[in-house]
Amino acid sequence: MSTPSTPPDGSPAAWSGRFSEPVSEIVKRYTASISFDYRLAEFDIQGSLAHAAMLHHVGVLSKDDLAAIQRGMAELRTEIRAGQFNWSLDKEDVHLNIEAALTAKIGDAGKRLHTGRSRNDQVATDIRLYLRDAIDRILAGLNACQTSLVDLAEQHADTVMPGFTHLQVAQPVTFGHHLMAYVEMLVRDAERMADCRRRVNRLPLGAAALAGTSFPIDRAFVARELGFDGICENSLDAVSDRDFAIEFTAAASILMMHLSRLSEELILWMSPRFGFIDLADRFCTGSSIMPQKKNPDVPELVRGKTGRVNGHLVALLTLMKGQPLAYNKDNQEDKEPIFDTVDTLTDTLAIYADMLTGITVKPDAMRAAVMQGFATATDLADYLVKKGVPFRDAHEVVARAVRTADSSGRDLADLALAELQAFSPMITDDVYHVLTLEGSLAARDHLGGTAPAQVRAAIARARKRL
Ligand code: ARG
Repeated sequence: MSTPSTPPDGSPAAWSGRFSEPVSEIVKRYTASISFDYRLAEFDIQGSLAHAAMLHHVGVLSKDDLAAIQRGMAELRTEIRAGQFNWSLDKEDVHLNIEAALTAKIGDAGKRLHTGRSRNDQVATDIRLYLRDAIDRILAGLNACQTSLVDLAEQHADTVMPGFTHLQVAQPVTFGHHLMAYVEMLVRDAERMADCRRRVNRLPLGAAALAGTSFPIDRAFVARELGFDGICENSLDAVSDRDFAIEFTAAASILMMHLSRLSEELILWMSPRFGFIDLADRFCTGSSIMPQKKNPDVPELVRGKTGRVNGHLVALLTLMKGQPLAYNKDNQEDKEPIFDTVDTLTDTLAIYADMLTGITVKPDAMRAAVMQGFATATDLADYLVKKGVPFRDAHEVVARAVRTADSSGRDLADLALAELQAFSPMITDDVYHVLTLEGSLAARDHLGGTAPAQVRAAIARARKRL
């Protein structure tokens, strides 16, 4: 005789005893998470094995039962990895699927595994194990991207390009310096991820449903088995906390924002209007109607995918904001945003590290652009200040010189000495060194400046960290 909530596969739902009628098909689909949380399987097995080992350690589970659980889980792991495991909607989620399959293999020992545990602390443990692993992969991806950026920066420590403010030519910088700005951003991203990992890496298991358990569990034992740095110290918080996932998606959003900014620059630089770089063909696509087109699809998609990661951050914040303690089913909605954030980041970083190595730089176009915007005007003002002219007066002198040069289609360096001296008698023929791009670059020779020597020093510091 089957119970009223017996699903089509013949076995009753794990919680069916309490109910007088089964859920409808649509409610079953609506409440199930197996379609996405099967991805936690490896971590679910890892957590269950640690829990079982602890139960035996404290004398709650026999040696034979533990051995049976270990043998059954090893078989299940092999089947899951080989894609031979049949995930069942009737079993609702990854936890119940695995437990049922284990019990089918080993009998009563499988039914004893859930002693002193709830799916509430089980799922919190699984996500933390998953995210810890993901963060380690993301950190490796960040490192690869930084390496690509530093390599490119090293090749272009002397390559001059316009530095922009308001997207107007401001002052000359080196392309290497510009790239190293992104290395700084990625260094902070890695710090944020590593910091977030410290709070991810704590054990919720042992909180059971919400209040803890009456069994004599040893949480420190489980934490050691699973490589956690610490234990969630309040059982109610342990099962309901998702701060770590919010922190992770926040760090992910900032990281994507950085890559989105770099993408925007790559797109601009590849436009013929700039013509500063070319991207390797394998990161671009053509147009089905315009034969001449080569479109920077990959950076455009990185820019676009930043939106979905930002969305996941907002989704998780919203998911948590109205929840009373402790676990609520709302929490099941945490998984897809987390998974998609991880997938987006790992793919984006892998593609980016490769794309950066395939950039062709066009130094002549960069130099031509920086010649067009009076980029050394500040250098002329600084020159006058060094000769005793107050900065505000020097600014005015240079502004008038720029207006004259501009109206006659010339650069500041094209003005004759007599013309310059008409603006200020303090100007002598040593001014022309100051007006060159190389002179301007070399002058900014302090920590964090764009002088090629400083860029090389920054690259050396970055390499040491990598
Ligand atoms: N699938 C659930 C989740 O993802 C597992 C925990 C279910 N707990 C419960 N009491 N229904 O959150």
